[in-house]
Amino acid sequence: MFSVGKINIDKAILLAPMEDVTDIAFRKICKEFGADVVYTEFVNSDGLIRSNKKTEKKLEITDFERPVGIQIYGGNLEPMIEAAKIAEQKNPDIIDINAGCWVKKIAGRGAGAGLLKDPCYMQTMVESIVKAVSIPVTVKTRLGWDQNSINILDVAKRIEDAGASSLTLHCRTKTQGHSGEADWSWIEKVKEVIKIPVALNGGVFTAEDVLRAFTETNADAVMIARGAIEHPWIFREAKLLLNGEKYSEVTPEERIETILRHLKYSLELKDERAAIIPFRKYYAGYLKGLPASKEVRIKLYQQLQFEPIKEILYDYLEKLQSEEFLEKKL
Ligand SMILES: Cc1cc2nc3c(=O)[nH]c(=O)nc-3n(C[C@H](O)[C@H](O)[C@H](O)COP(=O)(O)O)c2cc1C
Repeated sequence: MFSVGKINIDKAILLAPMEDVTDIAFRKICKEFGADVVYTEFVNSDGLIRSNKKTEKKLEITDFERPVGIQIYGGNLEPMIEAAKIAEQKNPDIIDINAGCWVKKIAGRGAGAGLLKDPCYMQTMVESIVKAVSIPVTVKTRLGWDQNSINILDVAKRIEDAGASSLTLHCRTKTQGHSGEADWSWIEKVKEVIKIPVALNGGVFTAEDVLRAFTETNADAVMIARGAIEHPWIFREAKLLLNGEKYSEVTPEERIETILRHLKYSLELKDERAAIIPFRKYYAGYLKGLPASKEVRIKLYQQLQFEPIKEILYDYLEKLQSEEFLEKKL
């Protein structure tokens, strides 16, 4: 059971924090497809205490997405405590501490996965933040720095002792980055040493993977990152499988309707150009597997306005629905 503060969800499916991906628009889409809890991208504690406007913007959340967690990162205690207090003012359901980021400029400075090198300091940081705020504090971390220094069992106990409400375990080491196999067998070992809920993360790319993660491990929750970028409907499919039901393949109509809805949500937050350029990263996943989608993507990449994008997609949909086209392309 994923019990964190007022949240009580059996076999919860969580949307992972992802930089430049999990903004309000994408979180809203994932929520609509059934994500139980969503997280902001990580927010730099130093930027928050300097009142950097771009950093502060990342704290924005909406009631629609609840329960929602704001994730913060940093290697220094005082700025992290201050950042947690600033984040708390936005009234999220959870403050999540990033203790897993592997990027050199972050982990190398003692933040993110860098905290795994000093579990005692990580414990102090979690404890201080728990004391400083009145909402649940959770931690997302990895197995250890590298294969020869896996210390998650010690780290997990320290995180629990520090008062954290749950632990998300990305079942890879820092040196693995995002590649290599995620070793889910650690979930059971971690569950043996702590009582707080444990969320499994890493290598969950399909609804079948979600089912397998819950069947093969005793995780309280499963957190999906890249698998959601490719297809946010993974949450709906996984929920059906967990209920013992089958799901039907998402239709081309729904894929295209999702692109347009997602883009519209982005346009509510930013001006047209600022919304459309970063949105390009989503086309490949949304159109994956559809006939002649590469040509469509090339056309979409050239557009900087919503209307022509809509036209290209509707034309494409019409073509997809014509039998002649399908016969030629399949
Ligand atoms: C584009 C991208 C951005 C990410 N940003 C964050 C982040 O801000 N905070 C964080 O804790 N993890 C971040 N991650 C790591 C993911 O949350 C997750 O731990 C990792 O991708 C493994 O899960 P997966 O195998 O389901 O992708 C990011 C991953 C990707 C691909």
